[in-house]
Amino acid sequence: MEEIHTIDHLRRKIKTARQAGKLIGFVPTMGYLHAGHMSLVERACRENDFVVVSIFVNPTQFGPNEDYDAYPRDEKHDLAILRKAGVDLAFMPTADLMYPDGYSTYVVQEGQLTATLCGRSRPGHFRGVTTIVTKLFNMVQPDRAYFGQKDAQQVAVIRQMVRDLNFDIQVVVCPIVREPDGLAMSSRNAYLDHSQRSDALVLSKALFEARAAIEAGQRDADKVRALVRERISSVPAVQIDYVEIVDADSLKPLKRLQGRVLIAVAAKIGLPRLIDNIQLTLD
Ligand code: PAF
Repeated sequence: MEEIHTIDHLRRKIKTARQAGKLIGFVPTMGYLHAGHMSLVERACRENDFVVVSIFVNPTQFGPNEDYDAYPRDEKHDLAILRKAGVDLAFMPTADLMYPDGYSTYVVQEGQLTATLCGRSRPGHFRGVTTIVTKLFNMVQPDRAYFGQKDAQQVAVIRQMVRDLNFDIQVVVCPIVREPDGLAMSSRNAYLDHSQRSDALVLSKALFEARAAIEAGQRDADKVRALVRERISSVPAVQIDYVEIVDADSLKPLKRLQGRVLIAVAAKIGLPRLIDNIQLTLD
């Protein structure tokens, strides 16, 4: 695996791979890799001839009072597991390379997809995501790009952006990877102390209970939302940001559960903010 730090070097390597007729798979990450990321990497390695992984903690997707500086980083560990997985290139630009002095172009997606859920609580977050993903797509020009279902709203936003900006890239979405007790894998789990870690479990438990209620026939979104809120509120240290039940593609709120349904939650457990979701397809 080659470690690449400049855009010129990256472009040369991509050009050579393309000229050799290789299919290029791309996994954008912010590093501090866990089994969730590695499920994307492994799938990319299975489905493509040449795999690029970017490691870049993107400053523009963090709000002024968010955790950009504290975001966990462990480049040595990341590179070791990527090498073992058979990745061809690890691209690790600096913030100055991606956003040099005078940088002033941003990609902004308007409408429901970015206005709701995390977009409401984290203004500017998706502008940062669409900007960096556009820049990385332009640099890597992959055939396929891999994203995790854990960031369900990001998936909807990126899919829309790929359609709107005519990127010739297939977006591949991989299922959430969970710890054995149900907690969705996230780099931000590293912030949780022992008791927060056990409090955080209520998020997945509430979602699994919602799924059980739906499987038992419940189709009223308000009732399912109330069930999830009540379950999460039973742990006083967990502060709900949102519990939303929406169409998985349009992210529009649902009254009656039908079609591709996304139940998404965000909550603060002390300072750390975690998100989780489940998706169901219903008649
Ligand atoms: O999902 C993430 O880790 C980030 O939002 C991404 C897609 C790498 C862009 O910085």
